[in-house]
Amino acid sequence: MKRYLIAGNWKMNGQSVGNADLLAAITPHLPASSQVDVAVCVPAPYLAQVQQVCQGTPMQWGAQDVSAHEAGAYTGEVSADMLSDFKTRYVLVGHSERRQYHGETSAVVAAKAQRALAKGITPIVCVGETLQEREAGQTNEVVKRQLAAVIQQVAHCVSELVVAYEPVWAIGTGRTASPEQAQLVHALLRAQLRAASAHAERIRILYGGSMNASNAASLLAQPDIDGGLIGGASLKPKDFLAIVAAALAQ
Ligand code: 13P
Repeated sequence: MKRYLIAGNWKMNGQSVGNADLLAAITPHLPASSQVDVAVCVPAPYLAQVQQVCQGTPMQWGAQDVSAHEAGAYTGEVSADMLSDFKTRYVLVGHSERRQYHGETSAVVAAKAQRALAKGITPIVCVGETLQEREAGQTNEVVKRQLAAVIQQVAHCVSELVVAYEPVWAIGTGRTASPEQAQLVHALLRAQLRAASAHAERIRILYGGSMNASNAASLLAQPDIDGGLIGGASLKPKDFLAIVAAALAQ
């Protein structure tokens, strides 16, 4: 049986008071022990807050980025050691917004994944094609290349990864990949993971991109979709809980 992971990505949203309200509206309603892991990936300044609020609850927490460097003169960067101080369990690496607006290459993303793993933090490696790449028939090639860079770098730790397929054209647009479209890409990623790890079946491959309360069940029912990475809907308690419930009902 799959162990789903439903992870919220708050992106650059929220402040202390709103965060507290949001968590208070979600956390008490999470099932205590279940086949579904639930997490929120929050802006770094709020890791202390989520740690304090979520410790001892079923809600896990993560960060949205980590430095590719270990320590030193990298103004503004946050290291994996710093994330560990707040018992951070996951970190997003290679989100398309970082690749697009901050020039992160697959080599940088791979280095970040390795830094996280070295400190026992699970990287959620995001891959996905742009609309232009999809229309040019390059989806498979793009996502495979993005994942290959990480696989190559982390070598024996591939089974420790979480992968997220996030088609860029579906992020924040209200336009989701159909379950069949997503499954095709997830199956491709699974095959790539299988070639690199004997434990590929247990690596979770999340779908992200306008996942919401009404489309979650059909996406999560796909054989190679093991959870969701949720942007907008993770800021709405009812919607986020409905996605968790859809995972529980699978
Ligand atoms: P939306 O759910 O808002 O489309 O965002 C998806 C995403 O980028 C999660 O990382």
